[in-house]
Amino acid sequence: MVKIGIVGSGSMGSGIAQVAATAGHEVLIYDNHPAALESSHGQLLNTLNKLTAKGKLDDRDAKAIFGRTYFVNELSAFSECGLVIEAIIENLGAKKEVFAKLEEITTQSCILATNTSSLSVAAIAAACKQPERVLGIHFFNPAPLMQLVEIAPAIQTRPEVVNLTRNLVESWGKLAVLTKDTPGFIVNRIARPFYGEALRLLEEGIADIATIDWAMTELGGFRMGPFTLMDFIGNDVNYTVTETVFQAFYYDPRYKPSFTQKKLSEAGWLGRKTGRGFYNYAEGAANPAPQKDEELGKLILYRILIMLINEAADALYLHIANRNDIDLAMTKGVNYPKGLLRWADELGIENCVGMMDALHREYLEDRYRCSPLLRRMAWGKKKFY
Ligand SMILES: NC(=O)c1ccc[n+]([C@@H]2O[C@H](COP(=O)([O-])OP(=O)(O)OC[C@H]3O[C@@H](n4cnc5c(N)ncnc54)[C@H](O)[C@@H]3O)[C@@H](O)[C@H]2O)c1
Repeated sequence: MVKIGIVGSGSMGSGIAQVAATAGHEVLIYDNHPAALESSHGQLLNTLNKLTAKGKLDDRDAKAIFGRTYFVNELSAFSECGLVIEAIIENLGAKKEVFAKLEEITTQSCILATNTSSLSVAAIAAACKQPERVLGIHFFNPAPLMQLVEIAPAIQTRPEVVNLTRNLVESWGKLAVLTKDTPGFIVNRIARPFYGEALRLLEEGIADIATIDWAMTELGGFRMGPFTLMDFIGNDVNYTVTETVFQAFYYDPRYKPSFTQKKLSEAGWLGRKTGRGFYNYAEGAANPAPQKDEELGKLILYRILIMLINEAADALYLHIANRNDIDLAMTKGVNYPKGLLRWADELGIENCVGMMDALHREYLEDRYRCSPLLRRMAWGKKKFY
């Protein structure tokens, strides 16, 4: 079994290390902040203890997993790794520096991967003399629990590197989907309207946060409403992802960030982690109750849903990923109740086009343009499945 190297022992790096060690690999994990490495060490022990206490892991296996995980102080320890996954801060300069060093330390057959959420894999790969062995492996948080992994080859990546990585990640029990190296890959691109359109509905005064969350969970079957989810992710983190995707798409109005969320982020109302976000998490705090009006609820649900479907169709239209991977990514990466393309079939493609066109007629904003793929499918009376 190849040795796995992990650079960066934050939440993602630690989670990925646990996944690889559980699958039987020897794992080396490095961080340039000794305190972060120390904390990762403590956390792994803690997690394994909890799993054994709950009976999900036997004691011997837990000890073996811990014994296979080495917390190292020097990147040079990675010389025998077959795969290195970088999970340091989301900063292009810092990542490029790490990749240039990794290339010097590892053998030529070692695959070098980045867990970036929003940076260009091609730009990171360009830091190497052999960019053909670099690709993106995007895990979801928490890595041990989330089954989805997006595999994002750069334009420089050799096809064998993609296949080897895919097989390896699948042998860890993960579900791999293939995505083009474009901003937000599949999930973080297609999910934007879940937040953006909910914020727009709030800003227009169509409904309040509790009613929008109620419509999406009770009527739509989503596990969390958009405002509960933004508070969970952190309004700072969610706002930054939106802003990064918006800039990366040359300011396409479809991805425009919201002032409302920016203000929350500036005020430090980051969500659960600060005790206040859209909702107040202080003990005994009063939060708004939803207005359980079915007609209003359906208006909210279908407006957000049609924007998500349009985004999924457009990702297929632009060959970001194939049909199955797009639907799998959304059901396994963000737990949507149904694949969006399957949902489009159920609603009827002509109805989807009708809903997008109605929004476009009303607002005359490019944000509400219908994907050409949906329109062509409606003309041809076609379905995704
Ligand atoms: N948090 C998420 O939900 C999530 C999900 C998917 C992908 N990602 C991506 O994974 C990466 C890591 O995210 P995270 O949430 O684990 O961050 P984090 O802040 O929890 O951890 C980053 C770690 O990297 C270390 N570090 C920084 N510079 C370093 C360097 N030059 N060399 C070695 N270590 C260094 C830091 O000390 C820190 O421990 C980012 O690229 C992020 O975009 C995050």
